[in-house]
Amino acid sequence: MATMRILAFLSILSNLLLLVLGHVVGKPNANGLTIKLIHRDSPASPLYPGNTTFIERIQRLVNQSKARAAGAGYLSVHPNEAIRAPIAIQAKSIYMVRLGIGTFNATFPARPFKAYHLHMDTGSSVTWTQCQDCALPGNRCFPCSEPPFPNRLSTTYRPLPCNVHPLCIPHQCIGDSCSYQSRYLDGAYTIGILASEAFTFLSASGRPQTIPNIVFGCSIDTADMHYGGNDNQVNGIFGLGWGIRSFVNQIQNLSHGTFSYCLKFNDGHALDTYLRFGGDIPQPTTVLQTTKLVQFKSSQAYFIELLGISINGTRLDINPELFSLQFDGSGGCAIDSGTTFTTIIKSAYDVVIRKLLLYFSGFPNMTRTRIFESCFDLCYERSVPEGFRDLPGMTFHLRNAELEVAPQGTFVVNQLDSGEEVFCLAIVGGDHVTLLGAYQQTNQKFIYDITRKQLQFAPEDCAQNA
Ligand SMILES: *[C@@H]1O[C@H](CO)[C@@H](O)[C@H](O)[C@H]1NC(C)=O
Ligand SMILES: *[C@@H]1O[C@H](CO)[C@@H](O)[C@H](O)[C@H]1NC(C)=O
Ligand SMILES: *[C@@H]1O[C@H](CO)[C@@H](O)[C@H](O)[C@H]1NC(C)=O
Ligand SMILES: *[C@@H]1O[C@H](CO)[C@@H](O)[C@H](O)[C@H]1NC(C)=O
Ligand SMILES: *[C@@H]1O[C@H](CO)[C@@H](O)[C@H](O)[C@H]1NC(C)=O
Ligand SMILES: *[C@@H]1O[C@H](CO)[C@@H](O)[C@H](O)[C@H]1NC(C)=O
Repeated sequence: MATMRILAFLSILSNLLLLVLGHVVGKPNANGLTIKLIHRDSPASPLYPGNTTFIERIQRLVNQSKARAAGAGYLSVHPNEAIRAPIAIQAKSIYMVRLGIGTFNATFPARPFKAYHLHMDTGSSVTWTQCQDCALPGNRCFPCSEPPFPNRLSTTYRPLPCNVHPLCIPHQCIGDSCSYQSRYLDGAYTIGILASEAFTFLSASGRPQTIPNIVFGCSIDTADMHYGGNDNQVNGIFGLGWGIRSFVNQIQNLSHGTFSYCLKFNDGHALDTYLRFGGDIPQPTTVLQTTKLVQFKSSQAYFIELLGISINGTRLDINPELFSLQFDGSGGCAIDSGTTFTTIIKSAYDVVIRKLLLYFSGFPNMTRTRIFESCFDLCYERSVPEGFRDLPGMTFHLRNAELEVAPQGTFVVNQLDSGEEVFCLAIVGGDHVTLLGAYQQTNQKFIYDITRKQLQFAPEDCAQNA
């Protein structure tokens, strides 16, 4: 609990810092950018659930993973190809960023920008938040914990004129301004003005870094938006997908088309980490492996070529076709830090389960249990706590690369009050798509190079890589 209080205090402190430093003119790092990634369940998050039990924490994350995988089914192409706007996943990402938008004539202690939490999403490209014009006649606002962005008061707000700017889709306009729309599988949508604005980030060094002229969606009309909590404490999306409007593409001078992260996850407590761009990506201490990042039709997600899976070094008999993209937009395997637990398409997932049943049948002191069956399909109990001892790791065989996932990224282990210990395979079965989630990505440094279309990774102690 003491740790929690310290963490909560630190989060207040960092917000204060953002407040104070917002008034200092930050000298931008000319060659990189670092943004804090806030885990949904961490004390720094507006969605922090407070004191929860292990099972509550895990259940929330399992539900999130399943919802996201369900939303990602057929995310690649809408069955109706006539709808050119990519269909995205509305299920909320587990990481968010806090950033400042706009420039206001404010007297201290008011800030010269408005601060918002946005979901970090590698599955979509447009960054958007709700603007005050949603209240104009004919438009629709959705309830948000923060007042809509007062675009009319910001001195750096510039709507993009219709058909001129390279980030505009020709003839997609509202009045004289070009517009964006993001539609989600569940029927939800956001429509608004595409505008350029100054974005301010509190860098790791504590200096705010203001980046001018970021093109974002100023949402003025929405339906069925549910963005975290009952009152939407998260106010939109921070898009990091493939598209030209993606934040990583817009800051080419700083990012050179690259970003990286190193995720840590400890006993069901996910911790905050950093998203780094360009020159801020530290040199890895070990040799990087490289696999292709695959772009599929209008999808903004980062697909990778998954060819097979091994458990304890034995390759499973799975037809690689199960992981490949289908013409109708189903299937495929995407790397998705917005999902907690990896989802494996059901027919391949069943092979994994059968192999593990066989593996654990060799251990008479492990007994199958249904105690966490609302979360995971395969759990065992043992009378003496042994942590990850005797639990196998898993290998994801990718094109030209092997992602070795340690037992710590394959299972969750929990000691019960009775003294017994339960461990479960931390992977769920899915219907449409395979998503490599954050839990299986822990303690690896991942570097996305979207210009070269490659993903590099190497094992790393992410706790040291804060
Ligand atoms: C947190 O939960 C644990 C276990 O349920 C309990 O023992 C502890 O008193 C709780 N702490 C607070 C501050 O509520
Ligand atoms: C998780 O989903 C199940 C089934 O949809 C639901 O009954 C349960 O309340 C959810 N739990 C949490 C913690 O979200
Ligand atoms: C900013 O606000 C101050 C105090 O309210 C005012 O004196 C000043 O003229 C304003 N500047 C601009 C550019 O609006
Ligand atoms: C990026 O760099 C190019 C070439 O150095 C320069 O012309 C351009 O203005 C820069 N763009 C931004 C947004 O700084
Ligand atoms: C796991 O692999 C190791 C190394 O190949 C082997 O010695 C061990 O017997 C395997 N464990 C099981 C349970 O198959
Ligand atoms: C459980 O069984 C394995 C394999 O038979 C053995 O190596 C391990 O020591 C056993 N653990 C306990 C606590 O008996």
